[in-house]
Amino acid sequence: MEGTPTGFPREAVAARLLAASVRTSYDPVVDIDWSAPHVPGAYWMPPQRSSLYGTPLWKGLSEEQRVELTKHEVASAASAGLWFETILMQMLIRHYYDADPTSRHAQYALTEVADECRHSIMFGRLIEAMGCPVYRADPFDHLLGRWLKATATGPRMYAAILIAEEILDAFQREAMADESIQPLIRMVSRIHVVEEARHVRFARDELARQVEAAGPVGLAYARVVIGRAAYSITRRLVNPRAYAAVGIPPAAGVAAARANPHWRATLRWSAQRIAEHLTELGLVAGPGRLLWRRAGLIGD
Ligand SMILES: [Fe+2]
Ligand SMILES: [Fe+2]
Repeated sequence: MEGTPTGFPREAVAARLLAASVRTSYDPVVDIDWSAPHVPGAYWMPPQRSSLYGTPLWKGLSEEQRVELTKHEVASAASAGLWFETILMQMLIRHYYDADPTSRHAQYALTEVADECRHSIMFGRLIEAMGCPVYRADPFDHLLGRWLKATATGPRMYAAILIAEEILDAFQREAMADESIQPLIRMVSRIHVVEEARHVRFARDELARQVEAAGPVGLAYARVVIGRAAYSITRRLVNPRAYAAVGIPPAAGVAAARANPHWRATLRWSAQRIAEHLTELGLVAGPGRLLWRRAGLIGD
C-alpha cells in the first residue's frame, strides 16, 4: 500500500519516529506505582471538563459525588481509549500485512502497535486501580468498530485514528499539567501524551499521502465514514452508565450533558485541532459534515 510521493520522505519520517521511540518509551507496568494510595478529595479530571459541570444535576451533587463522577468519566474515557486502540492495532497490522517488512515505515507501524499494546494494558490497570467497571461500547458501536477494524484502509483509516488520538490528547495534555488532580491520572496522561505525539505525526504524514492517492469516489465515501467515526468516538467518551455511579439515571445524565453549554464547549475545544486539520484536507464536508455537527464537534 504505497502512497504517492509527497514533500515528506516516508522512510525519513519513520526512521526519525523509530529513533524517538527508542529514546522515550515507557512500560506502564513498571513505570507506574499502581499501589500508591489515591489523594483523598482530589478530582480525577479538572471538574470543569466534567460533562455535567455547571448543570442543575451537578449543583445537586455533594463534593464527594462530584469527585466520584469525574472518576467514572475518566474510567469511561479509558474504556473508550482501549476499545479504539484495539481497533487501531488491527488496522495497523492489516496495513503491515501488505507492507515491505524491511522498510522503516512498516517497522514503525509495528512499533506503534507495540506502544498501543502497552497503552491498553495501562488503561486496563487504571480502570482496575480506580475500582471502576469497564464501560464498554453499546452493541451497535461495538459492531461498527468490528467492521471498521476489519475493512478500513487509506484516508478513512488514518483519519479515524487521528480523531480518536487527538481528542483524547487534548484532555490528557491539560490533565498532565494540572497539579490539583490525582497524580495517577497525571502520570498516565504524561506517558500517553509523549508516545501519542509520535503516532499523530505518523498518521498525519500518512493521511496526507493517502488523500493525494485517493480518487473522488473513495474520498466521498471516506468523508461519511470519518464523520461516523467522529460521532461514535464522541458519544463514547462518557458512557451513559457512568452517571448511575452517582445516582443519576443514565438518560437524565445524557440529556443534561447534551444541553450543557460547558460540555459542548469542551467537545469543540477537544476537537478543534483535528477538525481544522481534516477540514483543510477536504475530509469534513458533504453528508459527513452533518455527523461532525451532530456530534457537537463543530459549530453550525
Ligand atoms: Fe494509545
Ligand atoms: Fe496511538
